[in-house]
Amino acid sequence: MSENREQFGSRLGFILAAAGSAVGIGNLVGFPVNAAKNGGGAFLLIYALCVVLLCLPVMLAELSLGRHTKKDPLGAYTSIAGNSPWRIAGWLSLVTPFMIAVFYSVITIWLLGYVVNAATGNLDQLAAPDTFGNFINSNSIFLYLAAVATIIFLILAGGVQDGIERAAKVLMPLLFVFLIALVIFVLSLDNAWAGVRYYMVPDFSKITGSVINGALSQAFFSLSLGMGILITYGSYMNPKEDLPGATKMVALCDTGVAFAAGLLILPAVFSFNPNVNPEELSDSSVSLIFTFLPKIFLALQGTLGYVGASIVATTFFTLVFFAAITSLVSIIEVPTASLMDARRYSRKKSLLILGITMGLLTIASALSFGKVGFLTELVNYAGASRSLFDIIIDTFYDTILPLNGALVCLFVIYRWRKTNFNDEVEQGNPNYKGTFLERYVNFSVGTFIPVILFLIFINTVAQKYFGVSLIAL
Ligand code: PFF
Repeated sequence: MSENREQFGSRLGFILAAAGSAVGIGNLVGFPVNAAKNGGGAFLLIYALCVVLLCLPVMLAELSLGRHTKKDPLGAYTSIAGNSPWRIAGWLSLVTPFMIAVFYSVITIWLLGYVVNAATGNLDQLAAPDTFGNFINSNSIFLYLAAVATIIFLILAGGVQDGIERAAKVLMPLLFVFLIALVIFVLSLDNAWAGVRYYMVPDFSKITGSVINGALSQAFFSLSLGMGILITYGSYMNPKEDLPGATKMVALCDTGVAFAAGLLILPAVFSFNPNVNPEELSDSSVSLIFTFLPKIFLALQGTLGYVGASIVATTFFTLVFFAAITSLVSIIEVPTASLMDARRYSRKKSLLILGITMGLLTIASALSFGKVGFLTELVNYAGASRSLFDIIIDTFYDTILPLNGALVCLFVIYRWRKTNFNDEVEQGNPNYKGTFLERYVNFSVGTFIPVILFLIFINTVAQKYFGVSLIAL
């Protein structure tokens, strides 16, 4: 398979596809809320440091491993380490994207529902207090599930160049245009600048260990690390491509969008209620998108009229929906590539198998918000009952993701070996040899980055499942 493996057609195509993966719900909603609550400019600074010092080296490691082996994550681990225990790391980087895709699909399905309702004149209903709870338990979600599954299938069935790359080339520029238009509009509203001030003025007194941990987790998730995505996308890259250059572009794009999203969400919140205390904003991105923001959009009818307010709301939900679709495409490509590589199945057959298995699990998680009792209260841990949806987030997003990151770092430096890693990066960038960047990447990926990620993993397990905090954060 690797002899005639599919490839991205151009450098821009790869960057847009990888940025499409990175830019998601995490950037557009999670980041602004985190920043607002955790010290504004001070959080932005810490986030930027996490991206540059900790995430960029991991990104480079994942992409190089993929490009060298020309395999999906499981294939990448086994082609270097054979049948050794490293296989477990390979399996983890296959199961993790599969499960993250399940919870992310549920949110994407809801997003599509909100796009359709905002566009068809139902913004007033979306802003009503009980709507979200009723909507997620209504039968219409099955219709939206079918629509999302069809869109993803049509994109992925086209393959790397005609599917993933082409979709990214259409959706990403649209996303940038929608985002910029909304930022400009929101900044023109009354009181908007109070939100900008809150967002950007640093408050270093808010910075604690847990805020730093939060910034790192946010950056790690935002750049799609630990999910096997960059190993898979790396396997479709041209060996002559400049990896550090491409990595920097993707990180810049992702961070730029997250930053711009803050200039959209916080001014909107302040113009809606100038006396708001952002610390009281809910922690959950879900309640912000689906219950708080619709109220803000509806309030715009005072100045824009109902149609104008609906247009703004539709643009916003479409923007988040596009971001979610390009992320889902990248994550579902991971198990798809695995089935194609390991089983030699055709792309369509792999997609059908995944469509059925993932579809069933997505339905089960979508039903775990009260509609089916036992899925809603599936197990109890750390003193609380957890739904299927909660368990998937706790296990795969919060816990396994940093573990996968630590494992890939250790694997690249100590099993695949530093010199091979460096040779791979140098292939597309001969100037990399001997640079400070090369030395920093080798040192950090072999030492403190996996240690930090591993500590986060242990602490999360203790906290989530046993209710104890090992590290005083
Ligand atoms: N970078 C994505 C985000 O910030 O939302 C993370 C991601 C999640 C990628 C889910 C892919 C995915 F399916």
